[in-house]
Amino acid sequence: MESTAASPRVQPDVSHEGIDSKTPAIFSFFEKATGTWQYIISDPQTHQAVIVDPVLDYDPASGTISTKSADDLLSFIEDKKLNVTHILETHAHADHLTSSRYLKSCLHGTPSIGIGARITQVQKTFAPVYGYDDPSIFENSFDIYWKDDEEFKLGGYNCRVVHLPGHTPDHVGYVFGSAVFTGDSIFNPDVGSARADFPGGNAKDLYSSMQRLLSLPEDSLLFVGHDYPPNDTRTPLTSVAVREHQAVWKGKDEVSFVEWRQSRDATLGAPRLLHSSLQVNILGGRLPPQDQNGRRWLKTPVRGAPECLTKE
Ligand SMILES: [Fe+2]
Repeated sequence: MESTAASPRVQPDVSHEGIDSKTPAIFSFFEKATGTWQYIISDPQTHQAVIVDPVLDYDPASGTISTKSADDLLSFIEDKKLNVTHILETHAHADHLTSSRYLKSCLHGTPSIGIGARITQVQKTFAPVYGYDDPSIFENSFDIYWKDDEEFKLGGYNCRVVHLPGHTPDHVGYVFGSAVFTGDSIFNPDVGSARADFPGGNAKDLYSSMQRLLSLPEDSLLFVGHDYPPNDTRTPLTSVAVREHQAVWKGKDEVSFVEWRQSRDATLGAPRLLHSSLQVNILGGRLPPQDQNGRRWLKTPVRGAPECLTKE
């Protein structure tokens, strides 16, 4: 198909252009296999753009990595003639692999990959789990380690990075005018919030992070990291003013939130791509190093084995 600037080959699931004078254009792409919302945010004047939380496709049964989701983003970027300055991670995801390193490579190394500064804490936690014994493996995993309230420019627009711990300690959100990219902190009202039972996660911190989001102006649009719709009703956004958020989260005290979150987390199994995701994502989207025979592995630590199976 011939591409033109007016009709990109790949269409976003949802577009928001001209929200208000302080908010750039937002293009939302849904990745069905992991229920992930990926975003491209751009300044229509300068064509500068950022990507938020892009997915690298992975089939754990066959160990096959593919790049369809990332290539769709690249196609859109090319057709819209966007200049990507940053690839923004909200956190080290445990349910999908990031395509940030692949995208950076395809975009000729131009974009900087940014993540919250506390990613180093997450790396330290998981290094012994996956045998990343030499700390130098983490060198240059990311280009920018955001601090709370740090700001940067996207063309004529401003972005503020806000630390939103609770789901993971490194978690940040990105505020572009009226739009907030919340990652896995607050979710749409039917699910409410992300889980808080990963290592370094904490339901009290998550409560504070959600209060921080809900204290933003009521017209703030919350673009979430995931949606798990029962049918085809997926939506990338909710808002601070949404009645259910106000009633359920703003009105709920910390103790009852923590109790609710912890009891819900106790019923949740491990994410399907937990280990494969973390092994790649704490390396900033790189694959683990080759073994002595040039093979690459994504490992699954074994737990719960009876003693008779572990003697030798
Ligand atoms: Fe997550």
